[in-house]
Amino acid sequence: MHLRSHFRPSNMAIAVCLREIQTFHLLVLLSWLTFALCNSSSTTLSDAEALRAIRDAWKLNQSWWQGDDPCNGWENVGCDTDNRVNYLNLSSLGIVGDIPDEIRNLDHLTILDLSNPRNSSLPYNFISGDLSPLQSLTRLLHLNLTFNSLQLEVFPSSIFNLTSLISLRLDNNLISGPLPKELAGLENLVYLYLGNNSLSGPIPKEYGAFSNLQELSLWNNYLNSTIPSEIGLLQNLRYLNLHDCSLYGGLPDDLARLRKLERMSLYSNQLTGEIPDAWRNLTGLQHLYLKGNYLTKSIPPWLFSLPKLYNLSLGYNLFYGDLNIKSTNISIISLDCNFLSGPEPELPNHNFTSEGNCFAGADTNDKIKCYQPYYDCSIFFERVPNGSCPSCPARQILYNASTCVCMIDALKEGASSSRNTIKAIGSTLAVIVFALCMFFVLWRRSRILNQKPMKDFWEGPEGVQRFLYKDLSRATNDFDRNHEIGHGGFGKVYLGEVNGKAVAIKRAHTSSIQDVSGFRNEVVLLSRLHHRNLVRLLGFCEENETQILVYEYMPKGNLHTLLFNIQNPIQLDWLKRLDIALGVAQGLDYLHSFADPPVIHRDVKPSNILLDENTVAKLSDFGISKVTSEFETEFPTKPAGTLH
Ligand SMILES: Nc1ncnc2c1ncn2[C@@H]1O[C@H](COP(=O)(O)OP(=O)(O)OP(=O)(O)O)[C@@H](O)[C@H]1O
Ligand SMILES: *[C@@H]1O[C@H](CO)[C@@H](O)[C@H](O)[C@H]1NC(C)=O
Ligand SMILES: *[C@@H]1O[C@H](CO)[C@@H](O)[C@H](O)[C@H]1NC(C)=O
Ligand SMILES: *[C@@H]1O[C@H](CO)[C@@H](O)[C@H](O)[C@H]1NC(C)=O
Ligand SMILES: *[C@@H]1O[C@H](CO)[C@@H](O)[C@H](O)[C@H]1NC(C)=O
Ligand SMILES: *[C@@H]1O[C@H](CO)[C@@H](O)[C@H](O)[C@H]1NC(C)=O
Ligand SMILES: *[C@@H]1O[C@H](CO)[C@@H](O)[C@H](O)[C@H]1NC(C)=O
Repeated sequence: MHLRSHFRPSNMAIAVCLREIQTFHLLVLLSWLTFALCNSSSTTLSDAEALRAIRDAWKLNQSWWQGDDPCNGWENVGCDTDNRVNYLNLSSLGIVGDIPDEIRNLDHLTILDLSNPRNSSLPYNFISGDLSPLQSLTRLLHLNLTFNSLQLEVFPSSIFNLTSLISLRLDNNLISGPLPKELAGLENLVYLYLGNNSLSGPIPKEYGAFSNLQELSLWNNYLNSTIPSEIGLLQNLRYLNLHDCSLYGGLPDDLARLRKLERMSLYSNQLTGEIPDAWRNLTGLQHLYLKGNYLTKSIPPWLFSLPKLYNLSLGYNLFYGDLNIKSTNISIISLDCNFLSGPEPELPNHNFTSEGNCFAGADTNDKIKCYQPYYDCSIFFERVPNGSCPSCPARQILYNASTCVCMIDALKEGASSSRNTIKAIGSTLAVIVFALCMFFVLWRRSRILNQKPMKDFWEGPEGVQRFLYKDLSRATNDFDRNHEIGHGGFGKVYLGEVNGKAVAIKRAHTSSIQDVSGFRNEVVLLSRLHHRNLVRLLGFCEENETQILVYEYMPKGNLHTLLFNIQNPIQLDWLKRLDIALGVAQGLDYLHSFADPPVIHRDVKPSNILLDENTVAKLSDFGISKVTSEFETEFPTKPAGTLH
C-alpha cells in the first residue's frame, strides 16, 4: 500500500506526459507525411536529390555527388545547356536491385547506361524489376540494359512511351512474352538489340516500319516462325542477326531489297528451300552466315562473285550438286557437311573448308562426323512442291504444309563417280539410271516391309547396345521414383540392372526430345569416346517418342553431393582430391586432343564429375549444347560440345 501511493504519479505529471505523447505522435505523423510526400511521384526532386536517392538505394559510393550542382564534375553524370542532368552512366558498378522510382525526376536524361559490357572483369550490375520508373523519361535517346537480370513475363510496356529512342539494348536478359508490335511505334530506332532473351515470335510485320533501323538483333529467342518479308522494307539495315531463333520456312526473296546490308546471321535455325536468286542483288553483303539449316539445291555460283563478300558460312545444310568455283575474292568459306559432289575445289589462298561432303574420292567416313539427318553420300535430297509429297518415293524427312523434302536412295557408290559420264551421254541414260534407282528403292522398301519390324529400324553404332524399352522399364520397375538417382537438363536418371549389371538410365523428358537424327548422331558421337575418365555409354533405346541413354553406373555418385553433403560426409583426403582433379584433366585432354571429332565439354562442374567404386573421376554429360553470342559467327554444335 505504502509503496503504491509513493509511486502514484500526480495529476500534473499525467498531463505533461500526455502532452509529450501527443507531440510525439504528431511528430511521427508529420515525418510520415513528409516521407510519403517525398516518395510520391508528384513531388519533384532536384536532379541532385534524385541522384543521391539513387546512390543510396543502390549503395553506390557515399562520397559521390555532394553539394547541389550535378553539373560540376559529378562522377558518371553529364548535363545539357539547361544545367539539367542528361547523361547517367552506371555501367558495371555492382548494382543490385530494381530501378529506384526517383529516377523519374531526371526527366532531361537522353543517355542512360546501366549495362554490363561483355566479359568484363568489373563488378556486374544485376538490375531487376520492371522498368516502369523509366516511362516518363521521354527524352531518352539511348537506353542500355545489356547483360542484366531483367526477369519479366512480358515485354516492359514503359518502353513504348520512349518514342525518341535511337538505341534500345535489352539483350542478354530474361524477358519473356511475345515480341511486341507496339515497339514499331519507336520510329526513330536505329539500333534494336533484344537477343538472348526468352521472347516468342512471330516477328511482327509492323517492324517493317522502322525506316531508320540499321541494326536488328534478335538472336537466341524462341521465335518459332517464318522470316516476314516485311524485313525487306528496312532500307537502312546494315546488320541482321536472327541466329538460334527456331525460324522455319524459306529465305524471303524480299530480303534482296536490303541494299545496305553488310552482315546477315541466320545460322542454327530450321530454314528450308534454296538461296533465292534475287539475293544476287545483295551487293553490299560482307558476312553471310547460313550454317546449320535445311537449305538445299545447289549453291548458286554468283554467290562467289558478290563484290564485297568476305565470310561465307554454308556448312551443315543440305546443299548438293557440283561446285564450280573458278576464282573468288571471298576470304573465309566454309561448306562442311553438305552433299556437294564433283571434284573437290582447291582454293589454296583462302580459308576454305569443305569436309564431310560427297566430292569424288572423299572419305565417306567424314560424313559420320556431320551432325546431319543422314550422313550417307548415296543419299541426296530433293524438294517436292505441294502437299502430301505424292511423288516422294522414299522416306519423307521434313515438311511443312506446302513443301516437303524427300530422301531418295540414289546411285550407290560406284555409280556416283560415273555421274559426269551420265551427263555427257545425255538424259536418256539418266532416265534409265533413275528407273534403276526407283527399282532399287522399291525393292528396298518391299524388303523392309517384308521384314516388318518397326519401320526405320536403326541398329546403332558398333560397341553400344540397342535396348528395348520393355527391358529398361522392367529394370527400373516402370521408371519408379525409388529408382531415381538424379535429374539434369536431359531428364531423369534411374538406377537399374540389366544383364546382371548396374546401369544408369537417362531418360529424355518430353521437352528435351530431339529429332531422330539428332539423337542418333549423339549416340554415334558418344559411342566413339572411350577413356578411363569418361563415363561410358553402354547403349540406348529409341522407340516411338522415347529416347534413353544407358551409361555405366557410378556407385559413388557425383562430386558435388560428395563434397557438400554434410549429413553423410565422405572422407576425401588431399591426395584423393588431387587424383580426382588429375582424372578430370585427363578426361578433358582426351576430349580436346584425342577424340575425333574433338569435343569441348563446356559444362565442367562438380555435379558432372562422377566417381566409380574406386573413386576414379569420370566426366559425364557432354550432351550440352550452348548457343554462341551476338558476334560469334559459328553456330553451336548440337550434339555435345563438338569442336568443328
Ligand atoms: N552414370 C551415372 N552413375 C551414377 N549417377 C549418375 C550417372 N549419371 C548421372 N548420375 C546422377 O544424376 C545426376 C544428373 O545427371 P545429368 O548428367 O543428367 O545432369 P547434370 O549434369 O546434373 O545436369 P545438366 O544436364 O543440367 O548439366 C548426376 O549429377 C548424378 O548424380
Ligand atoms: C559508360 O561507361 C563505360 C565505361 O565504364 C563505357 O564503356 C560506355 O561506353 C559508357 N556508356 C556510354 C553510353 O557512354
Ligand atoms: C550501351 O549502349 C550504348 C548505345 O548503344 C553504347 O554507346 C554504350 O557503349 C553501351 N555501354 C556499354 C557498357 O557497352
Ligand atoms: C545470355 O544471357 C544470359 C543472361 O544475361 C547470360 O548469362 C548468358 O551468358 C548469355 N549467353 C551468351 C551466349 O552470351
Ligand atoms: C514451307 O516452306 C517453303 C520453303 O521451303 C516456304 O516457301 C513456304 O512458305 C512454307 N510454307 C509454310 C506454310 O510455312
Ligand atoms: C535487282 O536490282 C535491279 C537493279 O538494281 C533490279 O532491276 C532488279 O529488279 C532487282 N532484282 C530483284 C529480284 O530484286
Ligand atoms: C576480285 O576482285 C577483283 C578486283 O576488285 C575483280 O576484278 C575480280 O573480278 C574479282 N573476282 C571475282 C571472282 O569476283
